[in-house]
Amino acid sequence: MTKEELILKAIEARELSYSPYSKFKVGAAVLTSDGEVYLGTNIENASFGLSMCAERNALFNAYCHGINQEDIEALAIVADTVLPVSPCGACRQVISELFPRDKPIYLANLNCDIKVTNVDELLPYSFDSSDL
Ligand code: THU
Repeated sequence: MTKEELILKAIEARELSYSPYSKFKVGAAVLTSDGEVYLGTNIENASFGLSMCAERNALFNAYCHGINQEDIEALAIVADTVLPVSPCGACRQVISELFPRDKPIYLANLNCDIKVTNVDELLPYSFDSSDL
């Protein structure tokens, strides 16, 4: 699957966004080595702090289906932003634990601007299990 095809999957997920408060829809898609795609979108709550971001939902969805780091090939995240969407700090922390360091992360917007990045670029000097 090309990065453009994975981004299209993330755009499909974005349509499912429940974001009545921010009205900011985000979609994400995790690709596995078997070619399976696990989607996630942002789900908000009237108690704002309980909202969950799209990329965390996509990764949690994959893990809920028995997927782990070794199975993951790529992650795409998309929103209607001027520049390719920038994941929040909480998501960067979760991505750094659940997503492989050597696989691409595609950040995109609806204009098909794409930034290809990775875990270490998104969260250098990260806190991880070795710090505990
Ligand atoms: N959001 C995401 O889903 N991913 C990000 O990386 C940035 C923010 C969501 C959370 C909230 O529902 C809305 O976008 C506005 O912050």
